[in-house]
Amino acid sequence: MKKKKYQRINSLKIRLICLIMLLGVLSGLIVRMGVMIVYEKEAVSAESIEILSYAKVLANDMAAANYLEHPDLESITSQLKLMSRIYDGRIMVIDETFRIIEDTYQMDEGKTIISEEVVRSYSGEEIINYDDEYHYIELSIPLKAYENAEEGDQVIGMMMVSVSTDDIENMLTYIKKTSLILVLVWTACLVAVSVFAAIRITLPFERIARDISDLQNGFTDDRDEALAVNNYTETAKISEQFNRLYSRMRLLDQSRQDFVSNVSHELKTPLTSMKVLADSLNGQEDVPIELYRDFMQDIGIEIERENKIINDLLSLVKMDRSAADLNIAVININEMLDLILKRLRPIAEQQHIELVLESFRPVSAEIDEVKLTLAITNLIENAIKYNKENGWVHVSLNADHQYFYLKVEDSGIGIPEEEQEHIYERFYRVDKSHSREIGGTGLGLAITRNAIVMHRGAIKVFSVEGEGTTFTVRIPLNYIE
Ligand SMILES: Nc1ncnc2c1ncn2[C@@H]1O[C@H](COP(=O)(O)OP(=O)(O)OP(=O)(O)O)[C@@H](O)[C@H]1O
Ligand SMILES: [Mg+2]
Repeated sequence: MKKKKYQRINSLKIRLICLIMLLGVLSGLIVRMGVMIVYEKEAVSAESIEILSYAKVLANDMAAANYLEHPDLESITSQLKLMSRIYDGRIMVIDETFRIIEDTYQMDEGKTIISEEVVRSYSGEEIINYDDEYHYIELSIPLKAYENAEEGDQVIGMMMVSVSTDDIENMLTYIKKTSLILVLVWTACLVAVSVFAAIRITLPFERIARDISDLQNGFTDDRDEALAVNNYTETAKISEQFNRLYSRMRLLDQSRQDFVSNVSHELKTPLTSMKVLADSLNGQEDVPIELYRDFMQDIGIEIERENKIINDLLSLVKMDRSAADLNIAVININEMLDLILKRLRPIAEQQHIELVLESFRPVSAEIDEVKLTLAITNLIENAIKYNKENGWVHVSLNADHQYFYLKVEDSGIGIPEEEQEHIYERFYRVDKSHSREIGGTGLGLAITRNAIVMHRGAIKVFSVEGEGTTFTVRIPLNYIE
């Protein structure tokens, strides 16, 4: 249960949806914040510039009318009130003794005001402050004597304007709300798009899983290829690799089935012969003793054959297991070959075949004597078995500092080129009828090659049909683990 939950969270689809959603929400929020910051900055700056220009015009009028000397000038006071109404703000005019001579809010007239801005304005500076906590813009503008206004040195008073930025703030709140709705709509659209995209993107992978599961359940759909999901390069690669693995598995399965049916067939053949022989003896009355002997001899031959097949199968199974079973010792190869040839000579003589051993140098190597004797015996035995009347078999041994080389040459029937790659397969025989006559089971070369490969050696065949065959074997002098 826990694993399933984990798998679900780990799913590519969920991850894609989450990633796209996260990117969408983050980008939406960042854009929203950016818009608000830029809007506030631009709006405050635009309003400040507007008020400043208005205030400057008014300051000029005041200087021209010498307002500071005559503060009850109706034309100026009404202009000040108008400006205060337009911008919903407070305007104070301060003279050079820091006394407030006009306050549009009429709260502090006649009072003295000393603040940092007032003092700085007296030195001729125009100051603009924005208070984002209490939402207002404050401007301090120096008032200059009319005749010196151009030179700007004689400051005779100043004007302080405080304007509320509530309208900007209201606009910001509106933008905040609307943009939040936009972000939500944007996220919802992205969720829809990401779900669609995630389903589309992961579809081929789900098809791979479904097709593999179909294969497992035996629905092959008569497809040319077991898996063919070619939507992306990646899925095409997965399909290709899977198909390779699958065909290898099928080949292995096929060869396993072939092997089992071959084994049963081979084991049954001698048994059938024995049954036929026994049945024919049992079916007759007063069987002459000679016939009994004859049939019993044949039964003995079949038992021997059955025994050989079982022994061969056992050696193959043993060699299939692992190289750890090897019984490695330093062996004199010349002596080993002498012994093998001594054992085989009677069979060769029986078929009038000349058997020659040529040793170019004394050779000692680290090998498993029993297994390699089996391998070499089969090679020489084949050279004798698949030979012609009055033919020859040449066995030669040579070595360098790394390997020893064995060559088994015969003047026999040869192996057709197209058959040469199959001769090492279990139960494979080139000419089935002829081989049966000769009495082979087709396990010999499989055993031979296994034994050589276990010694990290190599075997090669050269053969011309009707002329003869040469097997060359190369084995390392020192056993490589
Ligand atoms: N020297 C050879 N000349 C011609 N054909 C050969 C030679 N060696 C092997 N073959 C062919 O290869 C086949 C496989 O050989 P392998 O030794 O595996 O089996 P076998 O000799 O038929 O039976 P087994 O060795 O198990 O008694 C043989 O049946 C034969 O057709
Ligand atoms: Mg053989």
